[in-house]
Amino acid sequence: MSEPRKILVTSALPYANGSIHLGHMLEYIQTDMWVRFQKHRGNQCIYVCADDAHGSAIMLRAEKEGITPEQLIANVQAEHSADFAEFLVDFDNFHSTHAEENRELSSQIYLKLRDAGHIATRSITQYFDPEKKMFLADRFIKGTCPKCGTEDQYGDNCEKCGATYAPTDLKDPKSAISGATPVLKDSQHFFFKLPDFQEMLQTWTRSGTLQDAVANKIAEWLDAGLQQWDISRDAPYFGFEIPDEPGKYFYVWLDAPIGYMASFKNLCNRTPELDFDAFWGKDSTAELYHFIGKDIVNFHALFWPAMLEGAGYRKPTGINVHGYLTVNGQKMSKSRGTFIKARTYLDHLSPEYLRYYYAAKLSRGVDDLDLNLEDFVQKVNSDLVGKVVNIASRCAGFIHKGNAGVMVDTNAAPELTEAFLAAAPGIADAYEARDFARAMREIMALADRANAWIADKAPWSLNKQEGKQDEVQAICATGVNLFRQLVIFLKPVLPLLAADAEAFLNVAPLTWNDNTLWLANHQLNEFKPLMTRIDPVKVQAMTDASKEDLTASQTDTGEASPVGNGELAKDPLSPEIEFDTFAAVDLRVALIVKAEHVEGADKLLRLTLDIGDEQRNVFSGIKSAYPDPSKLNGRLTMMIANLKPRKMKFGISEGMVMAAGPGGEEIYLLSPDSGAKPGQRIK
Ligand code: 2FM
Ligand code: ZN
Repeated sequence: MSEPRKILVTSALPYANGSIHLGHMLEYIQTDMWVRFQKHRGNQCIYVCADDAHGSAIMLRAEKEGITPEQLIANVQAEHSADFAEFLVDFDNFHSTHAEENRELSSQIYLKLRDAGHIATRSITQYFDPEKKMFLADRFIKGTCPKCGTEDQYGDNCEKCGATYAPTDLKDPKSAISGATPVLKDSQHFFFKLPDFQEMLQTWTRSGTLQDAVANKIAEWLDAGLQQWDISRDAPYFGFEIPDEPGKYFYVWLDAPIGYMASFKNLCNRTPELDFDAFWGKDSTAELYHFIGKDIVNFHALFWPAMLEGAGYRKPTGINVHGYLTVNGQKMSKSRGTFIKARTYLDHLSPEYLRYYYAAKLSRGVDDLDLNLEDFVQKVNSDLVGKVVNIASRCAGFIHKGNAGVMVDTNAAPELTEAFLAAAPGIADAYEARDFARAMREIMALADRANAWIADKAPWSLNKQEGKQDEVQAICATGVNLFRQLVIFLKPVLPLLAADAEAFLNVAPLTWNDNTLWLANHQLNEFKPLMTRIDPVKVQAMTDASKEDLTASQTDTGEASPVGNGELAKDPLSPEIEFDTFAAVDLRVALIVKAEHVEGADKLLRLTLDIGDEQRNVFSGIKSAYPDPSKLNGRLTMMIANLKPRKMKFGISEGMVMAAGPGGEEIYLLSPDSGAKPGQRIK
C-alpha cells in the first residue's frame, strides 16, 4: 500500500451578505464529494472554508439593516453553516475572513511583499460621494451611457449597448448610495506589482495546475501583459487596516484567499497533530486544491499564486474550475421560481437527491451544468430508487423470512462479482479526476447488471417452489453483497444512504478498500426503506416557494465578482451576450499591410491593418502559428474595429483580429471570401 496522501482542499468563500443558493451548492457538493472520496480511500484530506466577510457591500447592507457588520456576518455565518451541514457538506473548518488569524496572515503577507519591493503606491482620482464621505466603486455610480444615451447605467458598462467605459465618462453621474452628485478626488492607493511574477506565472499556469480551457484563457491575459493590482481601499471600509497606513484598508479580494490559510490556521490552533507549515511552507509536500467557479479564475490563477510566491509560501497544486448552474436551461430566475435558495430546497426535498443529480452531470470540464427539474425527478427515481435501493429491497425480505436474516455463504454469481471488483479501479480513477458523471455511469451500469441477474433468477418465483429455498438464499445473499459494493462506490455522493445501508447490513462504516470483502454467514438488521421516490408535487412546491422569496439574497458584494460562485452571470470563458451587444461590435474586413515580430514578445505579432479609412496597429498572439509573419502581408482578415484601445507592454493595440483554434501551431486567422474590400462591415 502506498503512503496516504496529505491533501488540503478549499471551496470559494461565500460572501457573508446573502443566502446560499443551488448555484453555490454545485461547488460545495462537488468539493465535498471529492474530499469524501479521498477520505474514503484512506488519505488525509482536510477541507476548509470560511465566510468572505469584508467589503463595502457588507458595510452598507449592515447599515441598511441597522446592525453592525459584525452582527450581520455572525447571523449570516449561522445561516450558511446550517445550510452546508444539512446538505452534508462536511467541512473540517468553516471560519470567517474577519478573524484574528486572517488579520495576522494578511498583514504578514503584505509586509513580506512590501519588503521584497512588490508593492507600489500612487495617487489615483476617483469619484467620491460628498454626502456619504466615501469613494465610490464603479458599481455604486449610475448615470447616462456616453455612447447610446441610456439612463441609469452603472459606472463601468452599459447594459443596453454593451459599451464599457470609465465612470468619469458617464453623463450626469450620481451616487447609487446617496443620490448625490459625486466629485472627483485624489487618494493614495497601494498596488501589488503583479508583472513582477509574469515569468513564474507563465510556467506555473502551464504546469498541469489548470484545466486546458482555463490555461488558454490565462495565456491570453499573460500575453496581453499583466497590470499592477490595486489592493487598497479608503476608509470607511469594513476590512483590515493596512499596517503602517492609517485609514487605508486591504481590498476584500486581498484578504479573501488568505482566508483559506486562516481557516486552516484556526483549525491547526485547536488540532495539535496538524502542522500549518507542513501544508503551507515553501517545501510542503502536501497537495493543495482550490475549487472555484469560472468567474474568479483571475484571482486564483494569477494574483493568488503570485502573492504566495512573493511572500515565501507554496503555491496550489491545482485550481479546479467548474461552470455555472442553469435551471431548466436558463439562468436562475426569481420570477420563474428557479432562483432556489439552499434552505427552500431543504424545506421540500432530501439533500441526497441533489447530490446525486449533480454527481451524475458533473464532469471535469468548465461547462455549465443544467438542473432540469423534470430530468432530476426522473433520474433520481430511476437510478437510486429503481436500481440501487431496489436490489436490497428485493432480497432482504427473503433472507429475513427464510433464514432469520442471516446471509448464507454461497456466491451465486461469481462472474458478476468479478465484474464488480474489476470495475473498482476505473470508478476510483473517475472520482479522482473529478469526472463524477463517468463514475455514476459506471456504477449504474453495474446496478443494471445486478438487477438483470436477479430478475433472471426470479427468487420470488423460486421461493414458491418446493426444494428451492437454498437457491433463493444464495441468490439473495449475493444480491445483498452486490448492493453493498454499490454502496461503497456511492458513499462519497450519498453519505446518508450509506449510513442507513451500513445499519441494515450490520457493518462498521464502509471504506473503499472494503469492496474486496464479501459478507458470508452474516446477520442482517431489519430492512427499512432506504430512499423514497421524489414526488414531483414537492418540486413544484419548492419552485412556488422560491417565487415567493422575491426579496431573496443579494449575493453580490459589489466588489469584483458579479455574483456568488456558481450562478450564471458574466462567463469569462464562454459568455452569453444579448443581440444588441453583438450588434454593437464593429466587425470589419482588414488588409494586413504588414505583419512583423515584436522584440521581446514570445507570442505576439504586430499587425498594421488597413480598414478602408484608416490604418490600425494591432498586437495579436498568433506568432506560434505564423513564425514567418511576412507571409501574412497582403492577406485579408476580419477585425473588431471598435474594441477600446489597450495599452500593452509593447505599445497600444487598436482592435483585435479574429482567429480560432486551440493554440500553438493550430491558430487559424479568419478570412473573408474573395472580393471583400478592406473596411467593409459585417451587416
Ligand atoms: O466570488 C465570490 O463569491 C467570492 N466571495 C469568493 C472568494 S474566494 C476566495 F478567494 F476567498
Ligand atoms: Zn449604452
